[in-house]
Amino acid sequence: MENLPASSRRKFIKKMGLATAAVATSSHVLASTTKNVYVEKLKRTPASVNDKINIALIGAGGMGVQDTITALQVPNTKLVAACDLYDGRLKEAQAKWGKDLFISRHYKEILNRNDVDAVIIATPDHWHQQISVDAMRAGKHVYCEKPMVHDITEGPAVIKAQTETGKIFQVGSQSVSSLGNEKAKALLKDGAIGQLNYAEGFWARHSPIGAWQYLIPADASPATVDWETFISNTHKRPFDATRFFRWRNYLDYGTGMAGDLFVHLFSSLHFITNSFGPNKIYASGGLRYWKDGREVPDVLLGTFDYPESKAHAPFNLSLRCNFVDGTSGTTYLKLVGSEGSMDITWDSVTLKRNKTTDSDDPFYIEQMKKAGTPVTDRKRILPPEEYTFAAEKGYKGGPYDHFVNFFTAIRNGGKVTEDAVFGYRAAAPALLCNDSYNQDKAILWNPENMQLIKK
Ligand SMILES: NC(=O)c1ccc[n+]([C@@H]2O[C@H](COP(=O)([O-])OP(=O)(O)OC[C@H]3O[C@@H](n4cnc5c(N)ncnc54)[C@H](O)[C@@H]3O)[C@@H](O)[C@H]2O)c1
Repeated sequence: MENLPASSRRKFIKKMGLATAAVATSSHVLASTTKNVYVEKLKRTPASVNDKINIALIGAGGMGVQDTITALQVPNTKLVAACDLYDGRLKEAQAKWGKDLFISRHYKEILNRNDVDAVIIATPDHWHQQISVDAMRAGKHVYCEKPMVHDITEGPAVIKAQTETGKIFQVGSQSVSSLGNEKAKALLKDGAIGQLNYAEGFWARHSPIGAWQYLIPADASPATVDWETFISNTHKRPFDATRFFRWRNYLDYGTGMAGDLFVHLFSSLHFITNSFGPNKIYASGGLRYWKDGREVPDVLLGTFDYPESKAHAPFNLSLRCNFVDGTSGTTYLKLVGSEGSMDITWDSVTLKRNKTTDSDDPFYIEQMKKAGTPVTDRKRILPPEEYTFAAEKGYKGGPYDHFVNFFTAIRNGGKVTEDAVFGYRAAAPALLCNDSYNQDKAILWNPENMQLIKK
């Protein structure tokens, strides 16, 4: 396959041989105390920064605040305005960032300001598309949280707005900017695991907050919450604080486990493999435990067929998400190839390679003797079986790198990896998982031209 010529594999093996030989001399390659384990430090060179970039936050909840804290760590950035539909969040924003911060319930007031260069959109999912499109058309660069859109039909409008305005638009699956994902991409290209044939990932949690039972503020009421705006692009309903603050559990606003969590794994996988996505999506699951009126399952399994493409041979993906998981309590992504596997996180990659040893089969040994091949029982030096690539101490992480990439593209007129097309290709299979689960059937998708295939 195009992504895996034999020369690539040889290149990887040669590279690792040299690196292993360098263990004693390089400060970035560490000898480990564990037998047959290779450890290499990953490091990031700081990007240069020039012009000041003024940002505004739209959706000042949990992730919006976190994104803003991260964005402001990048030199020469300033927060000038914040927008939210709940007064408590606006007060908290001013308490955190100063009384001078302009605040509003109306995002269009933010977009009308001349001093705003870029906006962070961290509202619930059902507002991503409209605010993104309006923001780009108002001349703002956009950092929009994942998933890029709430429904499969909404992607093309975001792509069109980005193409027509030329604004930088980046989706917030921060893993794609991490050292760990970058290293995995390079290792796959070098043939480190041979030909990719299978990938798997999961998210596992077991706590009320992990399962989206967030606290509802005591002062939540139609006076403090702009409920009418919140539901203005979806079904009309009377004020409901549970729906507003636990929006992830309801289909009008959230995108379930797949849109919320699988989308991160799709983003990483597509970045590492250069894939456009799967062409067959099938999901199953159920609501097993968190029966609090939610409309989405708390256990979800998805299987995905990735067709042959210019970038890779066909492979299969299996994802699962379990909010009633009493054991694992974590997340992971693994790529499995013909010659090894990689466990990938934001700041590390653990590579395991097949061990190649001589057979001890007596028939095989007899045949080898007959063929004149010497068979000796002398022990040999074995190459490392496991390699760990870990970020240097002090690494600021994928979220910081993601904002650096966003601001660098704004400053240099460059490009970002996770643009509208990438964001749509990551969101689509996640959203189609929900459709598959709800309709109880496999869904066919053309990942290259980004269209549903009608059966
Ligand atoms: N990248 C990540 O790792 C990550 C992690 C968590 C959440 N997220 C994403 O961030 C987004 C926000 O999630 P969250 O956990 O912060 O939710 P949240 O409920 O804590 O915050 C959302 C905020 O948006 C406000 N809001 C709702 N509609 C609005 C509108 N039309 N205009 C302005 N403000 C509005 C709400 O009042 C609330 O304060 C979601 O899309 C979610 O998927 C991403």
